[in-house]
Amino acid sequence: MTSSFIYGTLTVELEGRIDTTNAADIDKKLFELVDANNPRKVILDASKLEYISSVGLRVVLKLKKTIDDTTVVNASLEIYDIFSMTGFTDIIEVRKVLREVSVEGCEIIGRGGHGTVYRLDGDTIVKVYNEGEPLDEIEREISYSKKAFVYGIPTAISFDVVKCGNCYGVVFELINADTFANRLCAVPEDFDSYSVKYSAVVNKLHTTKADPHIFSNIKELYNKWVDDMAKYYTPDEIKLLHDIVNSVPERESFVHGDIHPKNMMVQDGELLLIDMADLTYGHPIFDYAGIALTHVVSGRNDGKYTKAVIGIEAEPAARLFNNMIKANYPGRSEEELKHINDTIMSFAMFKYAIAPAVNKNQSDELNRRLLENTRKSFFPVAAKLIGAVDF
Ligand SMILES: Nc1ncnc2c1ncn2[C@@H]1O[C@H](COP(=O)(O)OP(=O)(O)O)[C@@H](O)[C@H]1O
Ligand SMILES: [Mg+2]
Repeated sequence: MTSSFIYGTLTVELEGRIDTTNAADIDKKLFELVDANNPRKVILDASKLEYISSVGLRVVLKLKKTIDDTTVVNASLEIYDIFSMTGFTDIIEVRKVLREVSVEGCEIIGRGGHGTVYRLDGDTIVKVYNEGEPLDEIEREISYSKKAFVYGIPTAISFDVVKCGNCYGVVFELINADTFANRLCAVPEDFDSYSVKYSAVVNKLHTTKADPHIFSNIKELYNKWVDDMAKYYTPDEIKLLHDIVNSVPERESFVHGDIHPKNMMVQDGELLLIDMADLTYGHPIFDYAGIALTHVVSGRNDGKYTKAVIGIEAEPAARLFNNMIKANYPGRSEEELKHINDTIMSFAMFKYAIAPAVNKNQSDELNRRLLENTRKSFFPVAAKLIGAVDF
């Protein structure tokens, strides 16, 4: 019986047939492994399992009772049927084997922070995640995309999680079109009409209610990031950051987390939002802060950075942001708009201040400069942000 133990997880490969002839033996070996490693989680890898009879199922049940977080993975359709017809899939999580997809010879149509996107055929793409990205995060992207789609957020249809060599992938409908970033660069004369559409998609997202039982609260995520900054900031500074987050009014609308022109596609003149892995719910300020950071703040020192990250130049990027605030906060006085704008810009500095926690692989040099800037220009005025989000 092949097994491995890492980070508290015991993985055991089940092989061949498990029936009356060998179940007792397998039971003994399994529990020896459990006793030796004291795992928090057990994964039973069924890729080589051909058959399991009722005595075998009882061994699995006993294991599940001992270690509650026990799952069966890579079950063939036949094995899955046995688990499901006996009602076992109600008691224990059983995952079917993932379809293998080869991207050999497929055209690369995009790259992002999480992986590479290939065209599979005329209708579908596969987003292949970087090696080592955990399966539950990938499954989250697919389930969130599906939810967003049925809620009416314009996005690509997602199909299934697949295996591509050593990596996982997600198959999506091919949006046979360019990114919004490329389109804006190619047809600058259409800027104004696209700017209106860009604001409208963001507004649609922010006026759609997300189910809090399915999605997480963005404030929880921010509070976690703030905690992760404890090695950089003093306890007083950490407390101030928490106070700012906690003072933001609760909302139940969708927050995307990474809105920019490379995460939008243009299809038949309409904008579709992609890259839904970080969908949460909460106040739109959290999205606007990110938009302000990537569209406006990033371009102040170095315009090249804007182009590299969001695919368009700093000047049109800042215009997209300004137009969006005006369009999505209609009927406000000049003074109110200025308050909204100032608060979002300060919140952008907040997001910048916690960037090392959000982006764990940022370079030390970048983090050093970031901390210096934050101490100089954010912390002296940060307390003003407490309660400032009143719109
Ligand atoms: N459904 C799709 N149809 C066509 N192109 C896509 C699709 N999804 C992603 N792309 C392309 O791949 C790029 C990266 O995809 P994205 O989901 O944003 O990945 P990441 O999470 O790595 O940022 C996009 O900017 C776009 O060019
Ligand atoms: Mg992306």
